[in-house]
Amino acid sequence: MANPSLLILPGDGIGPEVMAEVRKIIDWFGAKRGLVFDVSEDLVGGAAYDVHGVPLSDETMAKAQEADAVLLGAVGGPKYDKLDFSVKPERGLLRLRKEMDLFSNLRPAQCFDALADFSSLKKDIIAGLDIMIVRELTSGVYFGEPRGIFTEGNERVGINTQRYTESEIARVARSAFELARRRGNKVCSMEKANVMESGILWREVVQEVHDKEYPDVELSHMYADNGAMQLVRWPKQFDVIVTDNLFGDVLSDCAAMLTGSLGMLPSASLGAPMANGRPKALYEPVHGSAPDIAGQGKANPIACVLSFAMALRYSFDQGNDADRLEKAVEKVLADGVRTADLMQNAGETPVSTSQMGDAIIAALDASL
Ligand code: NAD
Ligand code: IPM
Ligand code: MN
Repeated sequence: MANPSLLILPGDGIGPEVMAEVRKIIDWFGAKRGLVFDVSEDLVGGAAYDVHGVPLSDETMAKAQEADAVLLGAVGGPKYDKLDFSVKPERGLLRLRKEMDLFSNLRPAQCFDALADFSSLKKDIIAGLDIMIVRELTSGVYFGEPRGIFTEGNERVGINTQRYTESEIARVARSAFELARRRGNKVCSMEKANVMESGILWREVVQEVHDKEYPDVELSHMYADNGAMQLVRWPKQFDVIVTDNLFGDVLSDCAAMLTGSLGMLPSASLGAPMANGRPKALYEPVHGSAPDIAGQGKANPIACVLSFAMALRYSFDQGNDADRLEKAVEKVLADGVRTADLMQNAGETPVSTSQMGDAIIAALDASL
């Protein structure tokens, strides 16, 4: 049988820097665990714009559709800020999500014991934290029509439209309930049903799916603004949170900081199963291209490494090796290896991006 295929899109800024570490880890799994992937690499974001004049070429889009999984670094950066909206780096990523129909974006936030002191919150609030945010990823205000900047009378007006169909809500709700059954069996759905009709429909449909198909799962509803507050007040009250595209974007950055750094948070974006039974899938860190530290070897590669662990688990049925990789990261952190974003006190010496990658490889070696 052919090896599973993995399309790697490093992108911009720190994307290629963190992806270089993941490449080492992919090679390690090939050499030491016999998990050989058919890896190809291509351009996305500003890097694709520089070569093709578009942030994602049709050829790359077609490759992504064919791949068993896609692994992406990050896109964007100040160099591209003045570009026309239609060719901005972020449009490349949004095209991938939309055309691959990756409607369910899993953003776990877990607190590693070694970092329990590091969060901006008190230790007892985050020690042992393990929550999963399920963000709807292909609809809502990110894609709704009408949209644009128009002239009305003598002034400009910017318009975006929040729009959700019943089926779009139902499918992401199912994905959250399925996950909950394999975890703490609790789902909290977040919207603004108090001010938005789309929120009213969201709440109704999530409740209906629950009552018909998942009555065994504990379901609660919360307004998203209260949800943001509760995430900081007592995050351990949550197991799975399901929410829309924009609230999910904001709430997951907030949850990232619970774990200590945005450089720690991985994600999986999943669609419907393909003919081979695997879900269409793209894996990427939650963070962006971090222009402020790009090119300096300072980036924390762990979010991208843990995104590959999610690929092992969700696309390649290698749960044991996903655990192995996550444990290696845990060990490195327990040993006190820290990139600059995880430094607590002045005077500590951070390791570089590639030293962090090497430390993870050493911990993987020790796991054999
Ligand atoms: P960002 O996530 O790039 O950076 C926010 C802050 O977190 C910065 O101070 C950065 O240095 C730090 N940070 C992020 N990742 C880190 C890591 N791995 N290690 C250490 N520190 C890290 O967000 P931003 O500055 O708002 O956006 C920069 C660019 O990235 C924008 O063009 C934005 O559109 C894009 N972006 C892309 C993605 C993506 O590709 N998925 C996600 C978010 C933002
Ligand atoms: C994310 C990012 C993206 C989003 C941008 C870069 C399109 O912030 O993946 O969280 O808003 O979804
Ligand atoms: Mn975001």
